[in-house]
Amino acid sequence: MIKINGISKVFKKCEALKNVTFDVNDGEIVGLLGENGAGKSTLMRIISTMLTPTSGDAQISGHDLLSEPEEVRKSIGILFGSEVGLYERLTARENLAYFASLNGMSSKDASKRISELADIFDFNDYIDRRVGTFSRGMKQKIAIARAIVHDPSAILLDEPDAGLDFKASKIIFDFIEMSKANNKSIIFSSHSIENIKNYSDRMVVIHKGQIIKVFDVHEYREKYSDREINDILFNLVSEGEENV
Ligand SMILES: Nc1ncnc2c1ncn2[C@@H]1O[C@H](COP(=O)(O)OP(=O)(O)O)[C@@H](O)[C@H]1O
Ligand SMILES: [Mg+2]
Repeated sequence: MIKINGISKVFKKCEALKNVTFDVNDGEIVGLLGENGAGKSTLMRIISTMLTPTSGDAQISGHDLLSEPEEVRKSIGILFGSEVGLYERLTARENLAYFASLNGMSSKDASKRISELADIFDFNDYIDRRVGTFSRGMKQKIAIARAIVHDPSAILLDEPDAGLDFKASKIIFDFIEMSKANNKSIIFSSHSIENIKNYSDRMVVIHKGQIIKVFDVHEYREKYSDREINDILFNLVSEGEENV
């Protein structure tokens, strides 16, 4: 469970987030939709303890963001879309073992978990090859495995679909669905209405740092056509433009 309570963030003159509040239940996928500069990455960085909020707080699996950052980090797996963040000169196994040790896992637990992940994501064939020689899809799987090597209960994906071909994109969305089936709390941000409509349970629309709409994706899909949902969102953001 992720609880986000009134988070604001000011960078010098820029109000990047204004009083952002929402929850993510266990087994729920929340899609965070927003244009470039809406504040999606800033929110992800705050929830993962990389940035401190100007005000507000959050709890991840019952741990308080501000007073228990270590516990929060153990509860969170984060993947930033455009960068895989792996060491090209190391093998996949070495990369995963390194991140497991950074997360405080013993080498015994780490090697057990790495074998498990290699089976889940089917990378046994190349686990002992250097990452520098991998295709984008192969790197994608290792990057995902790296993000969840410590088996976190909350998973954050910041624009995981940006610039991916259909194969790498399928790997990501299969992973998101698997995480839901495993009862994780998932937030993925995107500027693609399509992906959020297809893969999330709830959509949170953020515009210039503010939440302007939250809706149940399943309900909307029953009520409206794809085209109508696009129009609703487009109008919302245009109105937001006038109100902000
Ligand atoms: N480190 C920073 N210093 C100053 N301004 C920043 C910084 N990071 C983000 N911003 C600003 O905050 C706003 C939100 O940015 P960001 O969270 O990256 O948006 P998104 O990920 O939705 O594209 C933007 O106006 C951006 O310029
Ligand atoms: Mg971003």
